[in-house]
Amino acid sequence: MVENRAYDWIKKSLTTIEKAGWYRCVKTIESAPGAVIQLEGQSLINFASNDYLGLAGEERLKQAAIAAIREYGTGSTGSRLLSGHRQLHRDLESAIASLKQTEDALVFSSGYLANMGTIRALVGARDLILADEYNHSSLKNGATLTGATVINYQHCDVNDLEQQLAQYRDSYRRCLLLTDTVFSMDGDLCPLPQILDLADEYEAMVLVDEAHATGVMGTTGAGCVEYFGCRDRALIQMGTLSKALGSLGGYIAGSATLIDFLRNRAPSWIYTTALSPADTATALAAIQLIQEQPQRRQQLWDHMQFLKQALREFPLLPSQSPILCLGLSNPQQALQLSDHLHASGIFAPAVRPPTVPFSRIRFSIMATHQQQHLQQLVEALTRFGISFSSPCA
Ligand SMILES: Cc1ncc(COP(=O)(O)O)c(C=O)c1O
Repeated sequence: MVENRAYDWIKKSLTTIEKAGWYRCVKTIESAPGAVIQLEGQSLINFASNDYLGLAGEERLKQAAIAAIREYGTGSTGSRLLSGHRQLHRDLESAIASLKQTEDALVFSSGYLANMGTIRALVGARDLILADEYNHSSLKNGATLTGATVINYQHCDVNDLEQQLAQYRDSYRRCLLLTDTVFSMDGDLCPLPQILDLADEYEAMVLVDEAHATGVMGTTGAGCVEYFGCRDRALIQMGTLSKALGSLGGYIAGSATLIDFLRNRAPSWIYTTALSPADTATALAAIQLIQEQPQRRQQLWDHMQFLKQALREFPLLPSQSPILCLGLSNPQQALQLSDHLHASGIFAPAVRPPTVPFSRIRFSIMATHQQQHLQQLVEALTRFGISFSSPCA
């Protein structure tokens, strides 16, 4: 091999990551998705999945995927504007718009791409982005790539947001507010009505990320916009098909004009291969199913209430969603607890910086968990003890 020292820094960087306790590696799941999984030879109760309603292993979704592959093949063979568009894509977009009660919707190949491409299409160098400091990576990177001035406001702090708007809004052409609705690593909700009031007052656009809210929040599962009663407000809704909907892909829902504009201006929609027929058909079947079976959502909320009550002595971060987090004082403690849970038959990985500001164990609840699964979690945590010194308690 010809020597070139230009790459030496990568190994050094990895060593630094390891020393900080931030090193990550993948774990192989050997079974179908579900509340109980087979992980590296061991059967574990799964508290690490975003499959909140347990749809990813659902027979009806599998059949939809198989039928789509039989009819349309495995790949979509091109971008939507060239050879990739099928009636299935349009059917899915109509179903999303109908669930969300928006004029139209646009399906992207992932949620990450939906955020990146949409933010890029909406703002540029002369504009201002104000973003919650705990936003998902796709919103953060999407914002950075626009060349706009990006200012973070303190997490869920509308007073801080208002101050930034008052100070900076007038110096820029357009302004875009970005926030997760359900914060994926905390489980709390953004103060949506107040954010929308500020947006109206300061003439700002709002893009909300409903990745963890779609299928889960609101009476019909339309998300936090429904939950907060804000469906008649002007805003842009992004979501993924990959979590409660058990498929892959992302979407934007909004006005017909917005969607038409994105078809012409969102680079991550125009210059990428269309979502595969199987993923598209799966997501379509999932939307039908969440509308037909509200009892799945009810089950999820019942589980959530049970756990919140049973773990009330533990330093849980405030959550109004099926994501529960135990804040811990350092990465080592998070790894120790994750190992203890693993030994107790529970899969709940430690989430550490730089993904989050401080270490935690994140539990995501599924509608398909059994009561005994929840009980086993409570018992395992009780055995470990609550000698945690939570950074946020
Ligand atoms: C809040 C949030 N937004 C966006 C994404 C990206 O979605 P996808 O996994 O569909 O790319 C995720 C998921 O990982 C997420 O948690």
